[in-house]
Amino acid sequence: MRFPCAKLTPLQSRFVASFSALCLLGIVYWSLSNPHFAYAAELAVDGSGQARSGEDHNWHRIEQSRLHDDEVEDGSEAGEVPLLGRAAAVTAISANNAPNQLNIQPGNTTLWVYSNELFTSPSTPTGPGLPSDPGVKRHVEPMHHDLKRRQDGAQTKTIYVSINTCVQPTWNETSLQTVGPPQLTLYVSSEANNDAVGPDGTSQVVQTLSEGFANVSVTASGTWYIAVSAPALPSGFVGVWNYELAVSHDAYYHSADESDAFLFQVDTDFESALLVTGDLTQQKPSTATFQQWLDLSPPFSIFAANVNDTSILGMQNSYCGWSNKHQVAGSQLDLNGTKSGVQMSMITRGLGSKPKEQFYVTNLDNSSSYIGVLAQSGNSTNSGAGVVGGGGKIWQPVPWQTKTDGNCALMFDLPFCSDVAYAVPSNPQTYNITGLREVFDNYTSVSYQQFAYSLQQIPCNTTSDAQYSNVKTCDDCAAAYKQWLCAVSIPRCEDFTNPATYLQKRNMGQVYFNNQSYISPDILTQPYIPMSRAPTLQGSPAYSQTYNTSLATNSSRNTAIIDSLIMPGPYNELLPCEDLCYSLVQSCPSSLGFGCPYPGRGLEAGYGVRSTNGSLTCSYLGAVYSLNAATDLVAPVFRAVSLAALVMVGLGVV
Ligand SMILES: *[C@@H]1O[C@H](CO)[C@@H](O)[C@H](O)[C@H]1NC(C)=O
Ligand SMILES: *[C@@H]1O[C@H](CO)[C@@H](O)[C@H](O)[C@H]1NC(C)=O
Ligand SMILES: *[C@@H]1O[C@H](CO)[C@@H](O)[C@H](O)[C@H]1NC(C)=O
Ligand SMILES: *[C@@H]1O[C@H](CO)[C@@H](O)[C@H](O)[C@H]1NC(C)=O
Ligand SMILES: *[C@@H]1O[C@H](CO)[C@@H](O)[C@H](O)[C@H]1NC(C)=O
Ligand SMILES: *[C@@H]1O[C@H](CO)[C@@H](O)[C@H](O)[C@H]1NC(C)=O
Ligand SMILES: *[C@@H]1O[C@H](CO)[C@@H](O)[C@H](O)[C@H]1NC(C)=O
Ligand SMILES: *[C@@H]1O[C@H](CO)[C@@H](O)[C@H](O)[C@H]1NC(C)=O
Ligand SMILES: *[C@@H]1O[C@H](CO)[C@@H](O)[C@H](O)[C@H]1NC(C)=O
Ligand SMILES: *[C@@H]1O[C@H](CO)[C@@H](O)[C@H](O)[C@H]1NC(C)=O
Ligand SMILES: *[C@@H]1O[C@H](CO)[C@@H](O)[C@H](O)[C@H]1NC(C)=O
Ligand SMILES: *[C@@H]1O[C@H](CO)[C@@H](O)[C@H](O)[C@H]1NC(C)=O
Repeated sequence: MRFPCAKLTPLQSRFVASFSALCLLGIVYWSLSNPHFAYAAELAVDGSGQARSGEDHNWHRIEQSRLHDDEVEDGSEAGEVPLLGRAAAVTAISANNAPNQLNIQPGNTTLWVYSNELFTSPSTPTGPGLPSDPGVKRHVEPMHHDLKRRQDGAQTKTIYVSINTCVQPTWNETSLQTVGPPQLTLYVSSEANNDAVGPDGTSQVVQTLSEGFANVSVTASGTWYIAVSAPALPSGFVGVWNYELAVSHDAYYHSADESDAFLFQVDTDFESALLVTGDLTQQKPSTATFQQWLDLSPPFSIFAANVNDTSILGMQNSYCGWSNKHQVAGSQLDLNGTKSGVQMSMITRGLGSKPKEQFYVTNLDNSSSYIGVLAQSGNSTNSGAGVVGGGGKIWQPVPWQTKTDGNCALMFDLPFCSDVAYAVPSNPQTYNITGLREVFDNYTSVSYQQFAYSLQQIPCNTTSDAQYSNVKTCDDCAAAYKQWLCAVSIPRCEDFTNPATYLQKRNMGQVYFNNQSYISPDILTQPYIPMSRAPTLQGSPAYSQTYNTSLATNSSRNTAIIDSLIMPGPYNELLPCEDLCYSLVQSCPSSLGFGCPYPGRGLEAGYGVRSTNGSLTCSYLGAVYSLNAATDLVAPVFRAVSLAALVMVGLGVV
């Protein structure tokens, strides 16, 4: 099968780029009428003249060939020199910074040539790039050959070869798939005019793809050969691969960060997940870079899939693979109306208050495990052929699990408690998420206002010897109070069925919104010791309680709104971190009368302790999962506070 646009004369070769585009349009049209061609765009070039590359530009002739079409191999036109060697054809790389898509069958090798003409063509302008390089580990040094990047016209320069697997063989067994199909291999010659590349080749750089991605850079000088080979298929898999190969003398067309996820799970509920990127810059809020990040329309997107969907196994480093196989995707296009399960925005919430991108992923299944990857489409504003880095970038996968019970709802971007971003106790029959936000925000802003009146009685903004402390100001006190107030009045909710021991059971005697019961009545009357460190006095009430008589387990910490207005039923609370309370006591004038409960006298049921292993064992504003344990800890000063030094005062909310 031939295309009308298949033949180009040498004179037309300067138009090859636009012709390729036309051909690609043709392929799209044609593929609609050809079911074998569901994902694949396959450009094959008639090999005539390839051996004398540089003298003859006939290899620009582009011929559309159909998968399984024997014509490709032996259908050369009369007069053409038959090709020798294991590779039946040489395919020309169509342009710098362009995807060259091809199907490949198990056991086959395809040979590609990057012409001297492309090698000597001028570099492509790159645009300004993102305001700063996000997620780059500080110790990474720039690669040496970057220095050569713009030396147009030089005898040698670095060429960047990268590949993405777009489609791969699928699992055709009824048993559970545990591994992906085997990977393709990329061969890049290490000297000019060497077409002996491939499984039996010589003088070549060999790189097996890793999860559907590989990149090789070589110092090149003129015509260059590249090969891609497919392994034999193990039993259980059927089908072919389709890949996208790109060569550029500007920079890699595809990238993958193979060590860093640069994405954090904030929290989930039974149908959605909230994720944020790492800090996009460490600059101060007054800098231009800081503001430029916040002014961007969200530059990154996200792909996600249920872990039960094994079709992405083997392509997790491939932008092209994810864009074919994802279950959930968010990209800038989705913001312009297309219905998508992902809402994206730029925020400064969270630790450090630096710019980040936020992803709110909805329409998920409950009780399910997902993986998601951060992705960048092209260079973030433009993608595809002609764009330096137009093939996109993928980071490492982040796992998350949706909740099971329907009474924890993700809540974030509140007007007053703006740092709250986690699941809170909820009940779809009392408040929808809009109402829930209003109830919590009303409560906290009113409470804060009362505190602010009290603070006004304190000599704050006076000369330093009249101040209550010369290290803490009233602004420190106000900030600590707000952190504490938001964390304790808006509790963080986990499934009641979650067995983790650091969780505090709440509202056990309340009916669940759909009248379902997780609790057999005899559990409610079992003994419960709310304060494990309480003095073991005979008849101490601490040792004679049951789940339904203990306030700690039969009510919430905010009875005014949670028990009586929201009525979520039984849930587990991830307790606020005890350092929030110590920080409050330390930052505020003692005349305000703040104190924290002692161990054995309410501390255990009211506050949690941070873990040193990076897991989230208590709640603080800005918390995310899997943060490095060291940065997870607050300033050590709060932890060093001696409990004995604290004034013991009953708090309204403990
Ligand atoms: C590709 O593999 C198929 C089946 O294994 C074979 O028939 C065909 O000749 C191979 N093509 C090339 C170019 O080697
Ligand atoms: C992306 O590439 C286009 C054209 O290639 C360029 O105009 C644009 O500025 C680039 N975007 C960034 C963020 O560099
Ligand atoms: C895939 O499996 C089905 C059912 O076992 C079988 O009928 C079919 O032939 C298999 N396909 C291939 C390409 O082997
Ligand atoms: C491949 O790309 C990654 C980043 O995407 C880079 O760290 C690595 O050095 C590259 N490999 C080569 C051989 O250039
Ligand atoms: C996912 O797989 C697990 C184990 O194979 C199974 O128990 C579970 O029901 C599956 N979930 C979905 C949503 O398919
Ligand atoms: C969880 O999913 C199951 C199956 O789709 C559904 O029957 C159940 O109602 C869901 N639970 C909640 C709380 O949405
Ligand atoms: C939430 O509930 C209120 C009334 O209770 C209603 O006016 C509003 O439209 C609801 N919002 C959504 C998003 O359903
Ligand atoms: C929140 O406060 C506003 C203003 O005081 C009031 O109109 C609104 O009804 C309150 N909302 C809830 C849910 O209590
Ligand atoms: C103290 O002064 C600063 C700036 O003058 C002001 O922003 C702050 O609100 C004052 N604090 C109190 C508690 O009055
Ligand atoms: C739960 O039970 C109460 C009283 O028996 C009933 O009024 C209510 O409709 C039930 N709710 C559901 C969701 O079944
Ligand atoms: C436990 O809480 C439920 C619902 O809030 C209430 O009806 C019950 O009386 C409480 N149990 C005790 C022993 O106070
Ligand atoms: C981290 O420590 C907590 C207790 O502090 C424990 O429950 C959790 O299992 C630990 N996690 C890991 C991954 O070791």
